[in-house]
Order: sequence, then structure tokens, then C-alpha cells
Amino acid sequence: MDVLDFIVEGAAGISPLEGEMAAKRPEGVVSRKAPTSFAHDRVSRQDVPTPSVAFGDISPSRGEIASAFVITAETAADVPAREALLDRAMGPKRRRKSSEKLRRGRRPSEGLAFVARDASGAVTGTVRLWDVVLGEGGRSAVLLGPLAVDPTIKNAGIGSALMRHAIAEAARLGHAAVLLVGDAPYYKRFGFSAEKTGSLAMPGPYERHRLLALELVEGVLVGAQGMLKAAGRKLKAQRLPLAA
Ligand SMILES: CC(C)(COP(=O)(O)OP(=O)(O)OC[C@H]1O[C@@H](n2cnc3c(N)ncnc32)[C@H](O)[C@@H]1OP(=O)(O)O)[C@@H](O)C(=O)NCCC(=O)NCCS
Repeated sequence: MDVLDFIVEGAAGISPLEGEMAAKRPEGVVSRKAPTSFAHDRVSRQDVPTPSVAFGDISPSRGEIASAFVITAETAADVPAREALLDRAMGPKRRRKSSEKLRRGRRPSEGLAFVARDASGAVTGTVRLWDVVLGEGGRSAVLLGPLAVDPTIKNAGIGSALMRHAIAEAARLGHAAVLLVGDAPYYKRFGFSAEKTGSLAMPGPYERHRLLALELVEGVLVGAQGMLKAAGRKLKAQRLPLAA
């Protein structure tokens, strides 16, 4: 990431203060396998300014670090750690993905950028969703990605927790469908399939069978066709102050 990218991305994020408040005022605790409806034990919803918080335990029984994670809204202060995590998890080719064409120069969809943190507050996972339109004059939807988890704590439920949280928030915010380009064997557990994406296309090279979708409003993708187009709020480029 170059400096300008960082400044632009940082300017697009949620204020660090807002994020700190979210991190300090957790909504509840859930065990890794517990349904999300159990996630409201510790603090009542009225005390929490953002719904973007959930905890999970990482089971030591699978040889993983015994720890806990929290999911919060991503803040501007998370950007460097998130970029480093994406580089570790996905490598430099991540910037060449066709999804990137729909993300570049845009802000994530309002309220739909999340990070997972460990007990020390370090970023251990990330997911963002982006506003898109399905074909010329078509329906609005959100494109999910990238989803990534720190490679040292894979298979500990963090990716799944991020996915479930992101989907729930997208539904709560009134989005009708979530699309992504990814591995169906992983994403099918969250309800994604390529069943209704056959007439949709990504701008740039991609593997057709990896374009997956989840309807949040039943039937909304019936007849969906055409190229996905970026529809998100544009980033405002900020100039670096000139050195004295
Ligand atoms: C894919 C990723 C986000 C999953 O997050 P995670 O926290 O490691 O995964 P979870 O703990 O939620 O889920 C683990 C389960 O998913 C399975 N899984 C993980 N990646 C998978 C994949 N690509 N295809 C199929 N299954 C997969 C695991 O085998 C495990 O299965 P089990 O529950 O039957 O044991 C993470 O491994 C990652 O960051 N990978 C690199 C970046 C990437 O590929 N991102 C997705 C782009 S498509």
C-alpha cells in the first residue's frame, strides 16, 4: 500500500473514537459454536452505540490458541494492520482480482466493514462489503470481500463469525443480496451458491463458478443479469501536506 492509498482509505473509515467505544463496550459473549442469538448476555443493546460486536472463543482442543475474539466496526486506525493482514493471508496478487475493480476508489458500503480482534486488540480478521448494481439499471446489492483471517489462527471460527456478522448486518441494513467471488465449498455453509449468478458477470477475468450469491430477500436474484458495476460512495483523495 502506498502512502496516498493509506490516507485515502483512512479518510474513508469510521472514526477511531467510534471504534474504540465499540471495542470497549462489547455487546455479548458467545462460544464459537453458539448461535448468534445467544450473543446478548453481557451488555444490553441500549448501552452499545454500534451493533458491530460479537465475541467468540477459540477452542484449544483443536490445537489452536486459547483466546477470544471480538468483531467490531473497522476504524481508520485499523487500516495499516488490515492491509498487512491481507498481504499475509492473500499475497500481493490480491490487488489484481476483478473484485478490486469494483472496490478501487470507493468506500465500503455504509456500516459494512468489520474486523476481528484478539484479546490484545490486534486485528486478526477482516471483511468488507461494497455497493454494486447488477447490470445496467439493475438491482442494488453488496459485494463481499476480501474476507481474510490471520494465517496463524485459521480454522478457529473467525472467518465464519465475520461472515455471519457481515450477512446479518447487510440484512439489517436492508440490502437485498450479497455477492462474492470465492470458494463455493467454504461459502456454501453460509447459503451462497452459483445458482442465480449464471447471467451475471464480473468486470475482468474471474472463474464463473466462483461468482456466488446469497439472497437476503427471497427471489430478488431471479432474472438478474449483466455486469456488476461499482455503486459505492467515492473516496475523496486527500493531499499530503507538503514538507516544510
Ligand atoms: C478462508 C478463510 C477466510 C476462512 O477463515 P477461517 O477463520 O480460517 O475459517 P473458519 O474457522 O471460519 O472455518 C473453518 C472451516 O472452513 C474450511 N475452509 C477454510 N477455507 C476453505 C476453503 N477455501 N474451501 C473450503 N473449505 C474451507 C476449513 O476446512 C474448516 O472446515 P471445518 O469447519 O469442517 O473444520 C481463511 O482461511 C483465510 O483468510 N484464507 C486466506 C484468504 C482467503 O482465501 N480468503 C477468501 C477468499 S475466497
